[in-house]
Parts: sequence; structure tokens; C-alpha cells
Amino acid sequence: MSTIRKIGILTGGGDCPGINAVIRAVAKKALLEFGLDVVGIEDGYEGLIHNRFRSLGANEVSGILTIGGTILGTSNTSNPYAYAVSKNAADEVVFADVSGTVRENARALGLDALVCIGGDGTLGIAARLMTEGIPVVGVPKTIDNDLRGTERTFGFDTACAIATEAIDRVHTTAQSHHRIMIVEVMGRRAGWIALYAGVAGGGDVILIPEIPYDLEAIGAKIEERRADGKRFSIVVIAEGAKPAGGEVVVKRIVADSSDPVRLGGVGFVLGSQLERLTGNETRTVVLGHLQRGGSPTAYDRVLATQLGAEAVDLIMHGEFGRMAAVRGDEVTSCPLEVVIGGPRLVPLDHPLIAAARGLGTSFGDLKR
Ligand code: F6P
Repeated sequence: MSTIRKIGILTGGGDCPGINAVIRAVAKKALLEFGLDVVGIEDGYEGLIHNRFRSLGANEVSGILTIGGTILGTSNTSNPYAYAVSKNAADEVVFADVSGTVRENARALGLDALVCIGGDGTLGIAARLMTEGIPVVGVPKTIDNDLRGTERTFGFDTACAIATEAIDRVHTTAQSHHRIMIVEVMGRRAGWIALYAGVAGGGDVILIPEIPYDLEAIGAKIEERRADGKRFSIVVIAEGAKPAGGEVVVKRIVADSSDPVRLGGVGFVLGSQLERLTGNETRTVVLGHLQRGGSPTAYDRVLATQLGAEAVDLIMHGEFGRMAAVRGDEVTSCPLEVVIGGPRLVPLDHPLIAAARGLGTSFGDLKR
């Protein structure tokens, strides 16, 4: 007989298509299969710090499978171990450890388990709460697909589909105006979205953080295409891409976040450099948050449902401190703390890089 009666669900970090599908799967399975009480914590750990939560019944999670964002709200600044509490005389944010409040509130709520749906930040915090006596399980979420311990995160497929459609659409302007069109996609320090959407959209040049680029090599590829009678080129660039020996382009610093750097804008930098180098008129499109918005693809709805169901099974088997994960074709689990080891980057020997190189795609390096 299980002693589990009541579980909480929270969603932290950036929103991502498929979060609501996970909430629905966790809540429905917990309610219908096991008769548990389900509590939705609002705005990530913020809700546990300030006691903001609501009961989730079948009605509350009905009709949300296809809806983007998260019905619970989220926050990517509410780290209980480094929570922005005030500003000092120099106008700097002062952080405090309020994790004791989180533990007290979780206990007062009577939670037998907490499902944390999030990326490395949210799940890293969950792993720490676990060591301090809060029984947690994780569900990996990010459009970036860069979490260790899982080969896939939900949201990635949708982001790639949106980015691919955007690349398809800029082709017409590129062709008609004989321009270089640059599409900048998200992904933080990893190039998964750029690689997959770049290949799916037939990008002529794909620039990912894992392969520092060389401006001359990109120019040579564009020249080669021109010599073949192709007067336009499509460049897909990850926001975290950087030139060999150079640095990433930082868009903003979010002072009250414990992970404050936001990337963005490298596409504009590259655009003016390429225009100067090649003499080809160039335009840059930065897709930004469009990639995180709206309804999840069928693939992401299925994956989110499987991961949510796995999270409930982990709880009912008492396997706390673990994260639902994808390995090959299987949904399985791994220890939560593996996500702390930094982003899961695209390996340089990834078969998709080799396949794309074989078709003549340039990765902006000197290797062909
Ligand atoms: O991790 C998801 C992500 O969309 C990244 O791809 C991007 O760098 C970052 O979040 C943007 O964060 P924010 O929504 O805080 O601007």
C-alpha cells in the first residue's frame, strides 16, 4: 500500500510548448489511477516561497493539452537558494537563502511528493531540495534540448518546427532579392535547434556554438554558391554561436536571476560583416520567443504525456530524486543531479552534422 496521498506540481524557468500537456498527464493519472490529491504551485518556486497554490481537479486540467505556456505560471528568477530580496546602497541586488521557507511551506501543505517540471535551473534546485528531505521527481523541459540525462526534452520539436517554417519563408525573399538571409534561433550555449531546423530548412550555412565559425569560410561558401549560379544564401545561426577566438553576443543581463546572461543579436553582427565581405545585401531575422509560443506539435504532446505519466510512476514506486528521461525510443528515468553538470552540447561527431556536411552544408569552419 502506498503512503502517497497528495502531490504538488510546479513549473519553473522559461515557458515551453508541452508544459500543460505534462501538467495534464501528471494530474489526470494521479487523480484517476491513484486517487491522489493534486496541488498546483503557482509561478515555480515563487509559489512555495509565498504560499501560492491551488487545487487541481479533473476540470482544471481538462482542455489544456494543446495550449502553450503553463496554466500554473512560471518564474526564472525565483531560486530559493539565491532569492532576490532587496537592493543595497550601490543598487546591486541582494540575494538570500529562503529554502527553509520552501521546506516549511511544502511540509505545511502536506505534500508527499513534488513534481518539478523545468530545465537545469529548476531541476538543480529540485535536486538540492531532495537532499534536504523534500521528495521530488523531475520532468525535463526546454526548447533547447540541452539537458543532460535525457536525449530529448519536450518543446524542442515544436521550436524546430517553428524555426523550420521561418527558414522556409525567408527563402522567398532570399531568392527574389538575391540576398543573404540570416535566421537566428534560440538554444543558449547549445546548437540543437540551429542544427535540426537548419537541416530541415535546407540552410546553406549552419552555425552552432559547438563549432566556432570563421567569417572567411562562410564568405567562401557564399562565393561558391554564387559561382554555381545561386545568387542567394540562407544562414541559420544559433544565438550562442561565436567566431573562432571570439565571444558570444549578450543581449541583456537579468540582474535578479541567478543565471543572468541572455544571449541574442549575433545574427545582426554577422549580417553586417558578411555584407561587407561579400558585397551581397543581407538581412537578419531573430526568431526569439516565437519559438517558445503556441501549441505543441503532436510529437511534443505525446512526449510530454509519456514523461508526465513516468513522473507519477516514479512517485508511486518511491523512486524520488529521479527525472523522467528519454533513452532511445524509451521513456525511462535517471538521477536528478545529472542535470547539474552543465549543458548537453551537440557532439562534434553527431551523425546529423556529418550528413549535412556530406550534402555540402557549411558549418562555418574550414572543414568541408
Ligand atoms: O532556455 C530557453 C530559452 O528560450 C533560451 O533558448 C533563451 O536563450 C532563453 O530561454 C531566453 O530567456 P528569456 O525568456 O529570459 O529571455
